[in-house]
Order: sequence, then C-alpha cells, then structure tokens
Amino acid sequence: MKTLKRIISIYRRLFNPKRGLYKYKNYKEYKDTQIKGNKNKIDEVWVSKKNIRFLAKYIKKNIPSPEFGICHGTRRGKEQEWFMKYLPMEVIGTEISPTATEFPNTIQWDFHDVKKEWISNVDFIYSNSFDHSYKPRECLDTWMSCIKKKGFCILEWTNGHVEYTKLDPFGGSFKDYKKLIKKKYNLKDILKSPNNRFYKLKKTYFFIVSHK
Ligand SMILES: C[S@@+](CC[C@H](N)C(=O)[O-])C[C@H]1O[C@@H](n2cnc3c(N)ncnc32)[C@H](O)[C@@H]1O
Repeated sequence: MKTLKRIISIYRRLFNPKRGLYKYKNYKEYKDTQIKGNKNKIDEVWVSKKNIRFLAKYIKKNIPSPEFGICHGTRRGKEQEWFMKYLPMEVIGTEISPTATEFPNTIQWDFHDVKKEWISNVDFIYSNSFDHSYKPRECLDTWMSCIKKKGFCILEWTNGHVEYTKLDPFGGSFKDYKKLIKKKYNLKDILKSPNNRFYKLKKTYFFIVSHK
C-alpha cells in the first residue's frame, strides 16, 4: 500500500500537467472569473475558527505586541473577525469582489496591489487564497513588502491546492510552495493544522514566511 501511494505521488509530481499557472486572456478575464466565483459561493466559509485560534496563539507567542494584520481573499470576512476575537489588534481583509462592502472590516481590493501605508507596517498577513494569484512570485513579494522586520506571512496550503483551475489559477505542491518561498525568504516554520475537518484526506499546513 505504502509503495503504491509513493508511486502515485511520484507520478503526480512528475506528470501532473495542472501544476503551475492557468493562463487567462487578460486581467479582465481573471477579475471577472474571481468575482463570478465569489458570488457563486457567497454563502460559503472555507476558513476554520479552530485554525484561526491556533494561528492566533502562534502569533501571540512570536510577535510581542502585534498591532495590524491583513487577511487576503476573505469573502465573508470570518478570518479577520476571528483574529480580532483572539488578538487585541486591528485586522482587515481584502476581497476583489464588490461583495466586499457587505462584510465588516473588508475592503474591495486586488491583493496583488499594495497601499503605501502598508509597506513595512503589517505584523502578519494570513491567506488561504494564495492559489487565487495569477502571479504568485510577485504576489508573495508584494505581501512580504508589507511585513515588518519581525513579522510574517502565513500561507495556507492543502493538498487541494496542487492543481490549478480557472478559478484557482496557481497549482502548487507542498514542495513547490517550499521552493517558491525559500527562493527569497526564510521559511520560519511549517505548522500542521490541528483541524483537518471536512475531508479526512485533506491535509492542511501553514507556511510561515519571514524576512531573511
Ligand atoms: C477560496 S475563497 C476563500 C474565501 C475565504 N477566505 C474563506 O475561507 O471562506 C478565495 C476568495 O479570494 C477572493 N480573491 C480571489 N482573487 C483575489 C484577489 N486578487 N484579491 C483579493 N481577493 C481575491 C475570491 O473572490 C474569493 O472570495
């Protein structure tokens, strides 16, 4: 059984044609796709409260007095709500869809862009939507440009992130994520989620990315 699993995993790694990036015709197609996907799933919440409580504990332990955090790609805004429940700090969310205005502490914003006031001014960034980036390298650079010297980005990865689709344009394996991060940044920790709730087969990890 173990050998069979290993063979399947090697095969997937070598021959999976859907690792990498989905190619959109242009930015409009990307944005329209994301907005349509957001509206179709507007009642769904992917993020788990247990994971956010777990990450809040980690943040408390590793950042002495955090003041400002950003969550990217937040749909109903539950992650910023829960971070603020567990941490005495301001946390906002970005969401590309105009539905952003319906949810507290959420701004309509493409997370590939950066506001001047965010540069080197954010204690942590959390996202379970990195796989929605159409240019992940540049996206990580943008996010890291916001992170304070001692802060970090938290990228959520599950084995559902390996293949790209039109809606989730970046498909990357656990190893692909590690490689991408380590090219320029320090991979401070990889945390295993305490909660692999809905799918027993789904493994969730958090990559903690800090400055070198
Ligand atoms: C997989 S969903 C996750 C939603 C939410 N974090 C949750 O756990 O329920 C990805 C979300 O990211 C948003 N999104 C996609 N591309 C984005 C971008 N470039 N900037 C900001 N938000 C984006 C989508 O509209 C969608 O609501």
